[in-house]
Amino acid sequence: MIQIAIDGPSGAGKSTVAKAVARELGIIYVDTGALYRTIGYFVRSRDVDPKDPEGVAALLPEISVELKYENGRQIVCLNGEDLGDRIRTPEMSMYASAVSAIPAVRAFLLETQRKIARENSVIMDGRDIGTVILPNANVKIFLTASDECRATRRRDELLAKGIEVTYEEVLADMIERDRNDSTRAVAPAVAAEDAILFDNSWMTPDECTAAIIKLIKEKTEI
Ligand code: DC
Repeated sequence: MIQIAIDGPSGAGKSTVAKAVARELGIIYVDTGALYRTIGYFVRSRDVDPKDPEGVAALLPEISVELKYENGRQIVCLNGEDLGDRIRTPEMSMYASAVSAIPAVRAFLLETQRKIARENSVIMDGRDIGTVILPNANVKIFLTASDECRATRRRDELLAKGIEVTYEEVLADMIERDRNDSTRAVAPAVAAEDAILFDNSWMTPDECTAAIIKLIKEKTEI
């Protein structure tokens, strides 16, 4: 069993690289941001303020979040329903970031993440994988890129999904979200002490994937 942790800010290309690495190495890719997005979606559907810790915590007993895999693709079900791309909007990014600062939410999602890594070889991406979720991961990578690169990538991703956004909107949202995520009191998005820092601003996705696979092969028996 192998555990690979990839943390870093939004738009650093974590999911693109992690998906490609998972395919190449025949392991499971776990997108943990989707779990926080799912909680955010439920909170929004109940018209609760995502920054209200008590209001959000009171909803948790009504929520069941399940991770499933179909042909290597991750599906997150909220009370049995696959939400698909409904959790991918800029609004849901903000809801996810807000609810992810609430300790009860992090505690609620902890076991789901650890369980999947106990039962499978995984490459897991998020913000606190190397620091909190899988502190003994075989390889820990903290992936970053410049603000400009990350905002351009995120804008292109959203446009490809048919979500109309401008570069300026994406950049402003991204900076706000990164500030929330990296300054919160619980599990802030920071690199683990033993993480390898990797800036891919000037790399193509293929170059970044190849470099990370090389690194994983050097550090593990896979
Ligand atoms: O990776 P993403 O953009 O889908 O994540 C959405 C939000 O969820 C992100 O702004 C912070 C939060 N998150 C987190 O706090 N911890 C994780 N392991 C993954 C995501």
